[in-house]
Amino acid sequence: MQTEIIRVIDPERQEGDLRRAADVLRAGGLVAFPTETVYGLGGDATDDGAARKIYAAKGRPSDNPLIIHIAEPGDAGRYAVTNPMYHRLAKAFMPGPLTVILPRREIIPTSVTGGLETVAVRCPSHPVAHRLIALAGVPIAAPSANLSGKPSPTCAEDVAQDLCGRVEMILDGGACEIGLESTIVKIDGDSLTLLRPGGITYDALCMVCDRVTVADAVTHQLAADERPISPGMKYRHYAPATPVVLLDGAPEAVLAFLRQEQEHRRCAILCYDEERAALLPERVIPVGGRQDLAAQANRLFHALREADRAGADIIYAHLPPMEGLGLALYNRMIRAAAHTVRKIP
Ligand code: TXA
Ligand code: MG
Repeated sequence: MQTEIIRVIDPERQEGDLRRAADVLRAGGLVAFPTETVYGLGGDATDDGAARKIYAAKGRPSDNPLIIHIAEPGDAGRYAVTNPMYHRLAKAFMPGPLTVILPRREIIPTSVTGGLETVAVRCPSHPVAHRLIALAGVPIAAPSANLSGKPSPTCAEDVAQDLCGRVEMILDGGACEIGLESTIVKIDGDSLTLLRPGGITYDALCMVCDRVTVADAVTHQLAADERPISPGMKYRHYAPATPVVLLDGAPEAVLAFLRQEQEHRRCAILCYDEERAALLPERVIPVGGRQDLAAQANRLFHALREADRAGADIIYAHLPPMEGLGLALYNRMIRAAAHTVRKIP
């Protein structure tokens, strides 16, 4: 398959390009598109055949369900059974990086939901995503636009690297603003379970809901016999081929360790901007200031891809804090590292 890549700078002036992409979707084809979180690999969420194509293109196990993307928060009721908590969340955070799990309506096939009776619903704020979904006139099922097991793509080049020849079209809307996938919550009456942390933080959710629980799997490894609440939790996500080790210790001790390792090993290092000058330049990838969690979130996935290409035997990175946006970083990084944390005394 020939993949057409279209640069979309101004969605309003490029309505014709977006109409063509919407036509591809309505005809059952696949279009990768930018969102404010990461790029999505889109197909018509009401079309069983399109869902199967998405799983095939990604090489993804078909029991790991897809998120459906809607143009307006109010559209959710057509595809899922909404409730008062959904409307509160929608008012506070949509459009934006929040996904809500709700009971599915018949119109969404179980091939999209991985056989579940619930469906994940999200209303992205990115203008290209918004216009594309509105023009398609159907909800768009879209997992992150990476090959299964690879870090999510945060720019069109990373999408092309994984999916060229596997999808009809890639809309290039530049770099994603947030860089980590959406926050996912499940509603149980008037309480929420946080299944995947993202741009909407735990603290932000607490402003809307008094009872927010963080699912164990967000910060801990599932036991072999444990059944996850969200199927995606059981997969080794975000993993580069090179082993990743997270370092936990006082800043000076960690920096000294890294310098020493550079002498002995071919290591790639995801470092803070402030540390760069103190390290040898080879295979060193700055990911943002130590305190700048937004920059770190924004650069993490691309940095992991870069580190993986650097020809290193091991990738070192810092163990993030668990507060604020740090929880989302922590969740992605412990998975990338397969829970390998090294304490530096
Ligand atoms: O930011 C995002 O959410 C991006 C962009 C493209 O919107 N999409 C994304 O999709 O990250 P994906 O497929 O890579 O991750 C979806 C996650 C999976 O971990 C899946 O298990 C979970 O959502 N999920 C989907 N439907 C679910 C359901 N009904 N119940 C529980 N978890 C669900
Ligand atoms: Mg994904």
